Amino acid sequence: MKNRFPIFLHHKELIYLDSAATTHKPQEVVDALVSFYAKEYATVHRTIYRDSLKATEKYNDTRESVRKLLNAAHVEEIVFTRGTTDALNLVAQSYGKMILEPGDEILITQMEHHSNIVPWQMIAQETQSILRWMPVNEQGELEWQGYITPRTKIVAFAHVSNVLGTVNPILEIVQEAHRVGAVVVVDGAQAASHMQIDVQALDCDFYAFSGHKCYGPTGVGVLYGKKALLESMPPVQGGGDMIERVTMEHTTYQKPPLRFEAGTPIIGSVIALKSALDFIGEIGLKTISDHEQKLLGLATEALSSIPGLRILGTAPEKGPLITFSIEGVHPLDVATFLDLQNIAIRSGHMCAQPILRLFGLESAMRISFGIYNTPNEIDRFVSSLSKIISSLRTY
Ligand SMILES: Cc1ncc(COP(=O)(O)O)c(C=O)c1O
Repeated sequence: MKNRFPIFLHHKELIYLDSAATTHKPQEVVDALVSFYAKEYATVHRTIYRDSLKATEKYNDTRESVRKLLNAAHVEEIVFTRGTTDALNLVAQSYGKMILEPGDEILITQMEHHSNIVPWQMIAQETQSILRWMPVNEQGELEWQGYITPRTKIVAFAHVSNVLGTVNPILEIVQEAHRVGAVVVVDGAQAASHMQIDVQALDCDFYAFSGHKCYGPTGVGVLYGKKALLESMPPVQGGGDMIERVTMEHTTYQKPPLRFEAGTPIIGSVIALKSALDFIGEIGLKTISDHEQKLLGLATEALSSIPGLRILGTAPEKGPLITFSIEGVHPLDVATFLDLQNIAIRSGHMCAQPILRLFGLESAMRISFGIYNTPNEIDRFVSSLSKIISSLRTY
């Protein structure tokens, strides 16, 4: 599998354990980007010449691929954004601003990435609504029951936590939220290339993910929104492409998804995202998930036997990542020494300071897996880690 990713041909020694931050790209994704810029480059939507019509067709093909990936009912439910962060901000600034009134409640969780906290803080302040959160227990599971109230208007949470790995129970939360008329926004950044997602079965109202964590390019992400909801929402940005008719006094808007895609879009990245989704489709999400879960099991077992090492998040169902801390050893030191051995891991606050603080930490280490990782790499990582810990402790 590694030979399908050019980075590993150029950087042969690399053991890359940071796919939760961003994944490497298979050759076909690089080829799709290069080929678009070198041979097929044109803008979309606005003109009649053939290169532009072709680019528009390819741009729309990706939308259909995303629809299939999420099993959305309509292609109009797929909005291209710059990434998960952009998608979550869009929901907060458009849907949030439209419906929130003073005293209404937005409910998030303690395990959110900053991009699913800060936009809600901002809109809560702006609309004088109240931001509340569901707690997390010692195993890293969400204690969600009893927090949705008749005042709850929006419930937003990660499908999979980027720190704890916990897979949250979307369906149960959706059912409870819908009982009080609240909408559910799912941050799927850590789920989209790791497990099957069916937005119709889950019945969530919005679902966001980033292309660059799914073997695709940076700069492109997706917001899925139920058709009726998107149609009811105002745009957040004004400009080209999102309008129907403009006079000097007034503008009428396009229907979704174009209403939310103002300006010349990230055409090349959108087109190359299709190659990434085709790659995932060719391998199969079941195969990807089985492989990553095997690595997760091996790494969890090996790390658990290291004295003084604490794994954050031990929920029974986890995405393919492990965050950990080591007594008496600083995460930055460990990550630096591992880097000298060409092993890339994440260290720091993982853009989720509140959940790290709940576990009494300001900083931790995380390893995360993609389709290109191997059991042998886990062995080499654990062995290097053990040696680094011994030398740092004796130092
Ligand atoms: C759970 C989660 N949500 C949101 C994001 C933000 O994604 P992006 O930076 O691609 O917008 C990340 C990225 O690490 C994440 O892990």
